[in-house]
Amino acid sequence: MHVTDYTSVDPFDTDSALTSPGWLCRTHALALATLCACALSGCAKADAPATGAWAVYGGNAAQQRYSALTQIDRTNVTRLAIAWTYDTGETGGFQVSPIVVDGVLYANTPSHKAIALDAATGVLKWKFDPGVDGRGPNRGVTYWRSGNEARVFAAVEQSLYALDAATGIPIRSFGTNGAIDLRRDLGRDPAMQSVRLTSPGIVYRDLIIVGGRVGEGDGASPGDVRAYDVRSGQLKWTFRTLPRAGEPGADSWPAGAVDALGGANNWAGMALDEARGIVYVPTGSVAPDFYGGARAGDNLFANSLVALEAATGQRLWHYQVVHHDIWDRDLPSPPTLLTVTRGSARIDAVAQTTKHGFVFVLNRETGEPLFPVVETPFPPSAVPGEVTAKTQPVPSKPAPFARQRLTADMLTTRTPEARAWAQAEFAKFRSEGQFVPFALDRDTVVFPGFDGGAEWGGSAVDPRSGVLFVNANDIAWTGGLAPAPTGESARALYLTKCAACHGDGLAGAPPQIPSLVGIGQKRPADQLTQVIRAGAGRMPANPDLTGEQVAALVAFLQAPPPAVPAVAPGGAHGGETAPPAAPPSSAPASRYRFTGYRKFLDPDGYPAVAPPWGTLNAIDLNTGEYRWSVPLGEYPELAARGVPTTGTENYGGPIVTASGLVFIGATNYDKKFRAFDAATGKVLWEAVLPFSGNATPATYAVGGRQFVVIPAGGGKARGAASGGVYVAFALPK
Ligand code: HEC
Repeated sequence: MHVTDYTSVDPFDTDSALTSPGWLCRTHALALATLCACALSGCAKADAPATGAWAVYGGNAAQQRYSALTQIDRTNVTRLAIAWTYDTGETGGFQVSPIVVDGVLYANTPSHKAIALDAATGVLKWKFDPGVDGRGPNRGVTYWRSGNEARVFAAVEQSLYALDAATGIPIRSFGTNGAIDLRRDLGRDPAMQSVRLTSPGIVYRDLIIVGGRVGEGDGASPGDVRAYDVRSGQLKWTFRTLPRAGEPGADSWPAGAVDALGGANNWAGMALDEARGIVYVPTGSVAPDFYGGARAGDNLFANSLVALEAATGQRLWHYQVVHHDIWDRDLPSPPTLLTVTRGSARIDAVAQTTKHGFVFVLNRETGEPLFPVVETPFPPSAVPGEVTAKTQPVPSKPAPFARQRLTADMLTTRTPEARAWAQAEFAKFRSEGQFVPFALDRDTVVFPGFDGGAEWGGSAVDPRSGVLFVNANDIAWTGGLAPAPTGESARALYLTKCAACHGDGLAGAPPQIPSLVGIGQKRPADQLTQVIRAGAGRMPANPDLTGEQVAALVAFLQAPPPAVPAVAPGGAHGGETAPPAAPPSSAPASRYRFTGYRKFLDPDGYPAVAPPWGTLNAIDLNTGEYRWSVPLGEYPELAARGVPTTGTENYGGPIVTASGLVFIGATNYDKKFRAFDAATGKVLWEAVLPFSGNATPATYAVGGRQFVVIPAGGGKARGAASGGVYVAFALPK
């Protein structure tokens, strides 16, 4: 195999004035930088980033979101000021975490154009427009260099492009004319697949290793993990997360079941132990998500942290975090590599946060838990055909970072009216904590909700102290099942393919999932057809629908609103109405369908549970004990009335610096970007962004100056405008 030569150019604009021993790293580059940074900080293995650069999504391949830079510290952080902004000129919001190499910042716009900015000034160097607008999440790009050849890998819809890092021009010898099509090589008809890279791939030597987002329902694509040659785009290896007959894990499925199923995909990104050559791949649930009647068994390697040999894709070990998932408990963030202390031993560990609010801390080489995990019994399902797992793994430590069981005394106290409403609604639900199966007769509380606990922003770790920083949502959602419609009406098709998200009554769960009430009057038929065919952002494409079926759905959405009873979130399931006929789909249909992601909100739109609604937590992974936990985020109108900080829903992660600062935006409503004291959880500095910073920031140095940059895109607060602006802060010159 070709060995990459990283030594000829220094991609890290390090400056010894920034961190005293930084000069040690100067002659090293991508691969070696991690080693030298470890020599500085005393960590046992190649974990920490070099000073100056932020060359990999997540700060470094170990996904630590840690920087050794110390120019900005506790004493001067209050003087931080805007150094530059770059407005993409687009709206829609974004989740990008930029990377910075050699003084150049590589990132994306909300419509997924790849861009390169001068990282010191924010001036655009190039922009790559593939001629297709991407929608929804695209969290960044991947950088690779060998000798004086450097490439940026950028995803748009199903394509992964290799761009010349200097110009942004596609490298035509890569894949087909500069790109590979991720729908190919899955062992299924490519035209029927929906795969998008929402989190960037990770580079190991001359391989780019990728997962991808797939659908959540019937007909979803399989979640194969794949490695491509960075030069040619040739497929080098595949790890099938849905094992075929005879492969390890196949006995956790009914024979042949995986052929008709999809998912178990890695959408959140991966971590890489460069020195060991191991890539750590967190996977999501099987699709369809919520009814597992066709997949009795534990369903390996879904909902698992899988350790693969990065060079070959051979599985080394796996750890399943949810057995036979029927709650959509995808592993939502890349794991974080660190070294923990146990007595006198230093143990290389991997920490995985979860949507249900746990941190699993495992031995990086063996996958063994470093805190005991108790296989705990949970109730069976009453839904015909559903066989739940008898037990689920519950870590004894650390304690969960989100509340686990909603009880009547935990409902909102915001106003007496809101409380009374919440009590009456709550009485209708089943609320018994984690892993209670969904039912046909009433809604079940999911707490923390479908969006975590932890989410895609990831967690930060200070490799010197072993303290992990993780932000969390802490609100309740509900969900339920209903018999899948029989018959072939357009409404039956809608209920099967669309209602899980948009709801039986088309009301959706705004702002994450739009209401479709009256959409046929707002959007022309060709736009509706396009969205249904190609998907949009979080909405999957529907390649399995025939032209007639799509037309029937469009006609269904165009039916005058009275024909379609709108049901408020949390309300009853809508009845059968005016059915234009729809031809049958080829995809196998589940017997039961999910009736919608419903946030448990009070009539004024605030969470119907008591605060905190969002938190930031510091957990010592040596001991499993919390250093601190604080509410994260405010509703400006509540804060103005003197309501103590409630915390709010938050999306986007933290970063931590060697000078003891944790930077995080993430909050949906207050648009603030904050610096916390890593030791105490105290807010030391905050700035208001043009839109909320629902993304993970990055920090880097150019020419002796440390910057912290965050994308501000917003769009998650009800009624709020969205944009797409990069905002970089630094100490005034
Ligand atoms: C997994 C959840 C999910 C499923 C399933 C889903 N959608 Fe969506 N849908 C969304 C989300 C999220 C958006 C907003 C996407 C964006 O704008 O980025 C959306 C947007 C739309 C829009 C555009 C709304 C607007 O305001 O322009 C239409 C129309 C739509 N969906 C119809 C459908 C139909 C019809 C189906 C079934 C074939 C379906 N959706 C299935 C989540 C879903």
